[in-house]
Amino acid sequence: MIWWVIAALVTAVVGGRLSPYEKPNLEKQLRHLPPVTSIRTTYGDLYDCIDFYKQPAFDHPLLKNHTFYFEMKPSSHGKGGERISKVGSRSKTKRVKTLWANGRGCPYGTVPIKRTAKEDPTGKILHFENQNSNISISSARYPGLHYALLEPKYDPLKMYTGVGAKMTTWKLSVTANQYSSAQIRVQKGDEYIQTGWRVDLTLNGDTMTRGFIYTHAGQSQCYNTECPGFVIVRPDQPLDAVLEPLSEPGGQLYEQKFSIWQDPLTGNWWLARGDEDGRIGFWPKSLFKSLKGMASYVNWGGEVYGPPEKPSPQMGSGSSFRGDPKYDACMVDVTYRNETNDVVMVAKTQESADARDYYDIKDFGLHYWVGTNVFAYGGPGGIIGN
Ligand SMILES: *[C@@H]1O[C@H](CO)[C@@H](O)[C@H](O)[C@H]1NC(C)=O
Ligand SMILES: *[C@@H]1O[C@H](CO)[C@@H](O)[C@H](O)[C@H]1NC(C)=O
Ligand SMILES: *[C@@H]1O[C@H](CO)[C@@H](O)[C@H](O)[C@H]1NC(C)=O
Repeated sequence: MIWWVIAALVTAVVGGRLSPYEKPNLEKQLRHLPPVTSIRTTYGDLYDCIDFYKQPAFDHPLLKNHTFYFEMKPSSHGKGGERISKVGSRSKTKRVKTLWANGRGCPYGTVPIKRTAKEDPTGKILHFENQNSNISISSARYPGLHYALLEPKYDPLKMYTGVGAKMTTWKLSVTANQYSSAQIRVQKGDEYIQTGWRVDLTLNGDTMTRGFIYTHAGQSQCYNTECPGFVIVRPDQPLDAVLEPLSEPGGQLYEQKFSIWQDPLTGNWWLARGDEDGRIGFWPKSLFKSLKGMASYVNWGGEVYGPPEKPSPQMGSGSSFRGDPKYDACMVDVTYRNETNDVVMVAKTQESADARDYYDIKDFGLHYWVGTNVFAYGGPGGIIGN
């Protein structure tokens, strides 16, 4: 029997309390203050704890008059809430290594922002200007980009207010200028937002399996906090946190839950990772033109990129695709939110992959072994050329 385990990063709220209704007049004074403190993760990453009102999001011109505050919450998690998997064998929780060296994360009222290479005395090289930032599946065929995605069956009338999945997490190898990601997306027109995990040497300066977000709003597109816009509300959950433990082929499998949903009252798009109250922050509605409203498209799956002249990187679990959730990367509890903000397990789907001999995908629907809906995807890669 293989156990499915939910990896929950340790969370804690610490420090003195600010009023939940701190307003932007305070912000003006705070923007000129140095970071409150700097802290390291147990993996060696260095983060500045930046006052909530000084975080990069608020450099965005459209967020000038915001009234956001540190304790913001979505108005609801949607009617019916998140679906809980039925099978007892998947409910085991493993205590994982504490993320923060101080055991807690940043002080209350501040948010963790990664230090850049210049400032990090350990000299870890981080390329915050990722040359790959422009690449996206929606821009048709991009040389060196490959994908294996699950989509709802096309319905021009259907609208979405969220997307979610639990993803098994894996160790993968990538080389310079390559990435491999597992992701979920909501999109309307040219605008889309994504989250999931990725192995990306260029973005992260290492090949650890880390969380990420990608934002394409108006003319602006980037990872994590490279461009202003995404508002972080958590002191202890960096967007690019190392996500451990990782699964072993044929052995122990570990998963992380990711979700994006639109608050029906404010129109802001919230991001959550990990447990039920794993909300990390939100994309304010005002950043968007088309995604101000509901989305018209969602997907779940894997994407890789590398310079086409080198063998393309691994996707998913990195091993040859077997169509077996014990060996392939998979996503379970694959859900979206419908027009009335209800969480719906996706049923009618289509698979979209550009090179199935290298990166395959298979939707099992309701799977007897997993006890919920599941699809598997991935492959070893090795494509040379376009
Ligand atoms: C912010 O408020 C000022 C004054 O009311 C207004 O002129 C400006 O257009 C507003 N900016 C945004 C981005 O809403
Ligand atoms: C990214 O896109 C912008 C606008 O579409 C373009 O000006 C820029 O050259 C692109 N950068 C790369 C590296 O392709
Ligand atoms: C959304 O899903 C719920 C639960 O399945 C259903 O009752 C409701 O009718 C759906 N709404 C729409 C607009 O389809």
